[in-house]
Amino acid sequence: MRPTAALLACAALVAPAAPAAAQEACALPADRYDMTAAQVDALYDCMEGRMIDGYQAQGDAVAMAYRGWTQASTRPAVAGVHGERFLNTFVNDVAAEQYLRFEEGTFEMPVGSVLAKEMIGVRGNGEARRAPLLIMTKVEDAPETDGWRYSGVQPTGQALNVSQSFCHDCHGGYDASDSMGYPLEEVRASAE
Ligand code: HEC
Repeated sequence: MRPTAALLACAALVAPAAPAAAQEACALPADRYDMTAAQVDALYDCMEGRMIDGYQAQGDAVAMAYRGWTQASTRPAVAGVHGERFLNTFVNDVAAEQYLRFEEGTFEMPVGSVLAKEMIGVRGNGEARRAPLLIMTKVEDAPETDGWRYSGVQPTGQALNVSQSFCHDCHGGYDASDSMGYPLEEVRASAE
């Protein structure tokens, strides 16, 4: 049966609120490498809610927990790696004390350490876009990756398929910091 004009008009009236994807865009005010700290903070404020909602959409355990952990950086920053996205790292209680020393030397992160890194990407038109949450977990086994398990959560909440060797081919190069890259020096959080 074809809907009547009245029914169609009614459907238009009860059209749902704009879905997350149609939220107002968060545009970058300048080239990502030239933004001031205040501009980065404003961009993050614009993206934060939709980003977290996405990571948590399927109840992933790390996605649900990481915002209660220690933030390892004072703000997101573009380091160049990870697709030139804005990076913002959180570390769990097992990891925090050692990670926040940003040590270079012969040490190993304790088993049970979990590091979660938010990422915000940039579209060709200069608008920010949600990107995956990337995760490193220190485990007992996995000698081929120096004890690290790499994983991730998509902006839809689904698990991200990651290649252990792809991630570790780069991270393993940071052999003076147990495979950790650490945030840029100017945005490292202090230990207190
Ligand atoms: C080309 C090199 C490179 C590749 C490939 C790479 N990373 Fe990273 N990653 C880095 C660097 C450098 C940092 C530190 C950058 C920053 O936080 O500003 C980092 C940071 C991280 C962090 C925060 C903890 C830390 O190291 O300080 C996590 C978690 C992470 N990466 C996960 C992954 C995962 C998962 C993959 C594979 C999908 C991956 N990385 C691939 C270079 C790389």
